[in-house]
Amino acid sequence: MSDGLEAPAAGAAEPGEITLTSEQQAVIDAALRGQSLFVTGRAGTGKSTLLTRMLDELPGKTVVCAPTGVAALNVGGQTIHSLFGLRVGIQDVSRISRYLRDETREVLAAVDTVIIDEVSMVSADLLDGIDRTLRLAKRRNRTPFGGVQLIMFGDPYQLAPVPPRSPDEKAFYREHYASQWFFDAHVWAEATVSVYELTSIHRQRHDGFKQLLNAVREGTVPDHWLARLNQIGHRTPAEGEPIITLATTNRIVDERNRAELARLPGKAKTVRAQVEGDFGNAFPADPELELKVDAQVMFLRNDPDGRWVNGSIGTVVSIRPDKVVVELDGQDVEVEPVVWERYEYTFDPDAKTIEQDQIGEFTQLPLRLAWAVTVHKSQGQTYDRAVVDLGSRAFSPGQTYVALSRLTTLDGLYLARPIRQGDIIVDERVLEFMKTASAPMF
Ligand SMILES: Nc1ncnc2c1ncn2[C@@H]1O[C@H](COP(=O)(O)OP(=O)(O)OP(=O)(O)O)[C@@H](O)[C@H]1O
Ligand SMILES: [Mg+2]
Repeated sequence: MSDGLEAPAAGAAEPGEITLTSEQQAVIDAALRGQSLFVTGRAGTGKSTLLTRMLDELPGKTVVCAPTGVAALNVGGQTIHSLFGLRVGIQDVSRISRYLRDETREVLAAVDTVIIDEVSMVSADLLDGIDRTLRLAKRRNRTPFGGVQLIMFGDPYQLAPVPPRSPDEKAFYREHYASQWFFDAHVWAEATVSVYELTSIHRQRHDGFKQLLNAVREGTVPDHWLARLNQIGHRTPAEGEPIITLATTNRIVDERNRAELARLPGKAKTVRAQVEGDFGNAFPADPELELKVDAQVMFLRNDPDGRWVNGSIGTVVSIRPDKVVVELDGQDVEVEPVVWERYEYTFDPDAKTIEQDQIGEFTQLPLRLAWAVTVHKSQGQTYDRAVVDLGSRAFSPGQTYVALSRLTTLDGLYLARPIRQGDIIVDERVLEFMKTASAPMF
């Protein structure tokens, strides 16, 4: 990292003016040959951009999906769970045939290519779930992914899947998988997947910032670089200027959103959820959602009528307990409460399977305040300015890297607190995998 780190970087190119690089084009050529691919590369190397371009070029029926709603929205796809009709939580592949719906089967039966973005957040069981569902949908095909071409985009140095919570889920994992990473899925060993790595970074222009980000990615940041970064990021945004906060925990995100809500004039209205059965403390939305007119909100679910998707951001126009009007891309939409179902998993150690029972129902508006988001939700996004708040510590591999690499330029970085070496975490399994995966191709 040389001097002049804070030199202004040119803004990212508009999608319309982007010319694919030869390394991006090479991936399209490989895709056109029908191969299954894993396309990797550092943050901002244009994986998602390439993905959307590829869509126009592939001749067959192609579907796009991603593990989270926001990541799916970024590439115009749907969540893996909705596309494959999978249940939330661990995928026990031996059970999928029991609940696979005819509509899902019909859609998938017609598909030639499945494209997944942000595959680093796809867990091993989920990739096996995709494999099983495709084999079921493609009745006569017993090959990996039912013979469907699978094109996966992602950077394993970014965020991993959310780890399993309950002891039974952990027990299931220990029994079946070496790790949660998608490359430890059973199907990964069986399938033939060519690896491509993109090397040119496009999100950031400044060489010093790129070098710094690479060092954060690999966990090799010299102390004096970190000191310089902290010096640059040590500032607070001007009052009233719109800026997004990227934070490690939901607690920080909630605090920030509450503070922003308090700045809006008027009294907040509270929309209370109805909870039936057992939801523990893990609610899918705020049980007491506080809203004001003009509040910035994010949708938490896809609209069956397609007016919004999980991750869409809008502004509140009017509030009633049973109906909130939100302005979304210049259009007013009426939002009504939706029902979330909670299932419980029990691991059967003899059959080595996982059972699923519905144990609760939660009804609430599918909205949350959105001045701040978790780093997890920010993966795949590009921001010109953001506050990065790592709270007491970063706790997941790749978390600090994802947060910092969202920014196009260091000029837009506002650190809530200095970053420490301990915040920079790299997963050993990723280092190992990337060494072997990269050998023949990079
Ligand atoms: N060939 C290109 N020429 C110029 N700009 C590009 C090119 N490819 C991508 N970009 C720009 O670089 C930025 C980052 O691209 P993109 O989001 O596709 O990267 P990514 O690899 O998916 O990153 P992440 O790992 O964070 O998801 C975007 O602003 C995009 O417009
Ligand atoms: Mg991306």
